[in-house]
Amino acid sequence: MRRARFKWMALGLLVASGCATFPDQATTRQTAEQMLSEDFTAPSPALLKRLAQDRSQQICSKIGSTKLTEEEAAEVVRLSRESIRYPSSGIFAGDWKRGNTLAHDGAGDRIQFGKLEGRKENGGLCQNCHALAPGEINVGNVGPSLTGYGTQRGNSEAIAKYTYEKIYNAWTYFPCSNMPRLGATGHLTPEQITHMVAFLIDPQSPINKK
Ligand code: HEC
Repeated sequence: MRRARFKWMALGLLVASGCATFPDQATTRQTAEQMLSEDFTAPSPALLKRLAQDRSQQICSKIGSTKLTEEEAAEVVRLSRESIRYPSSGIFAGDWKRGNTLAHDGAGDRIQFGKLEGRKENGGLCQNCHALAPGEINVGNVGPSLTGYGTQRGNSEAIAKYTYEKIYNAWTYFPCSNMPRLGATGHLTPEQITHMVAFLIDPQSPINKK
């Protein structure tokens, strides 16, 4: 812990001593990443794995600039598209009832007391960020409302495929957005994602009821 505090102080001093001596972006990034990986007292392997950024995350974490270049955005889209695995059944829309349960299950993949939680299956986490069925109040607003999703867009094969790809890897359609890449990171299985698709587009799903 003391070592960690010393390092933060050292970085503070560098900042205080002015821009002329401040290390360049690449060095700053490298130092910050090293500090982060060294400063957990009992890191679980699951946590360390998450600290290593993949290429898309590196592009999305650019320091000192908020805008991606066209090439960078295109690379994230290409990598995201390449990451998508389709369901072995070839059917994009599964069981909306299973999807309903999963969408409201906000747990899974959490690291608690240094250990990855043991769960039979991960939840979909959708409720954490999206409004779902009409009238539900215990929902997040980080993402757009999904209420009436299927009523508005229908349930054609094209919509089912878009929705599957969007949930599998949201960055295919919106590079670096705040929507987690739920299939690409292994949080949800392709089969679970088909249930999420059905939950969004099936006319019987509570999401499409008045
Ligand atoms: C951490 C927050 C977060 C979680 C969890 C999350 N999303 Fe999202 N979602 C977003 C954000 C932000 C956007 C808008 C940016 C984008 O399109 O990537 C979005 C966009 C979407 C869209 C595109 C909407 C459109 O108009 O086309 C769909 C569909 C969607 N989410 C479905 C889901 C489903 C289903 C789940 C659960 C399996 C889920 N999301 C979990 C944040 C989240």
